[in-house]
Amino acid sequence: MRLIGVRFVRSRITQWRGERAKRRVLALAPQAEPDIVRADWEESLRNPTGFYLRAFRYFHRRLPAPLQAHRRYFSTGGRGFGEDAFHTMWFLVRREFVWESFLEIGVFRGQTLSLCALLSRLNHQPCEAHGISPFSSLGDSVSRYQRGVDYWEDTLANFDHFGLPHPQLLKAYSTDAAALERIASRKWSGIYIDGNHDYEVAKADWNVCSAAVAKGGVIVLDDSALGTAYRPPAFAFGGHPGPSRLAAEIDRSGFREILQVGHNRAFQRVA
Ligand SMILES: C[S@@+](CC[C@H](N)C(=O)[O-])C[C@H]1O[C@@H](n2cnc3c(N)ncnc32)[C@H](O)[C@@H]1O
Repeated sequence: MRLIGVRFVRSRITQWRGERAKRRVLALAPQAEPDIVRADWEESLRNPTGFYLRAFRYFHRRLPAPLQAHRRYFSTGGRGFGEDAFHTMWFLVRREFVWESFLEIGVFRGQTLSLCALLSRLNHQPCEAHGISPFSSLGDSVSRYQRGVDYWEDTLANFDHFGLPHPQLLKAYSTDAAALERIASRKWSGIYIDGNHDYEVAKADWNVCSAAVAKGGVIVLDDSALGTAYRPPAFAFGGHPGPSRLAAEIDRSGFREILQVGHNRAFQRVA
C-alpha cells in the first residue's frame, strides 16, 4: 500500500511539473507562431529539441480545432498515449503527402488510426486505414497496459465518437502469419510502427514493413529518439532502447530520415 502511495504522489508531481513546463513554453514564445513548411523539416534533424517545442506550440496556436479536440479526447480517461506535438507531426506529414493507405502496428485504443481517418476527412483525401494489434492488454518489457478494457470495441467506439468510418482491424501480433500476410498484401503509403518495443520485435516489424512500403512512402518509428540530439522537455518522453537501436541501424541508402518530432522519427523510402 505504501509503495502504491509513493508511486501515486511521484506521478502527480511529474504531471504537475509537465503542465508547468508546458505553460512556460507557451508563455515565453511570441503569440504569432509561424507555419512549418517542408523546408523547415530539415531543422527537426539538426535541432530536434527546438523543433519539438515548435511543433508543440504549433499544436496549441495553429492546429485546426477538430484536431486539437481529437487530441483532448484521447488525452483524457486513459484513452491514449502520445504528445500534443505528434498531432502536429501527422498534420504536417499528411499535408505534404497524399496517402491512399495507412497501416498502424500497435493500435491501443485507436488514437493515431482515428487521427489518420480524421485527417483524410478534413483533407478530402480518402485513405484506407488498417490496424494490426492484439487488442488486449498485452505489453512488452517496457510497457504495461490497463486490463479490463475491450480494446477492439473501444477502438471502434472511439471512431464512432468522431463519426469516422471504421478501419480494417486485424487482431494479431505483428509477427503472426496473418499479420505478415496483411502487411505484405500491398504497397502502403504510410506505416506507423508502434507495437512491441523490444528490439527483436521492432526489428522484425521494420524488416517486413520496409519491404512493404511504397517507394516515396513513409514509415514513422515511435519511441526511437534515444541516441539522437533530442532532449525531451519535462512533458515529453525520449524513447525506448529497442526502437532507438533499430533506428540507428536503418540502411540509409534505402531510407532517408525526413522528419523528427520528439521520439517519433519519419523515414521515407527512396530506393
Ligand atoms: C503504445 S501502444 C500503441 C499506441 C497507438 N499507436 C496510438 O498511437 O494510440 C502499443 C500497442 O501495441 C500493442 N502490441 C503489443 N505487442 C504487439 C505486437 N507484437 N504486435 C502488434 N501490437 C502489439 C499493445 O497491445 C498496444 O496496444
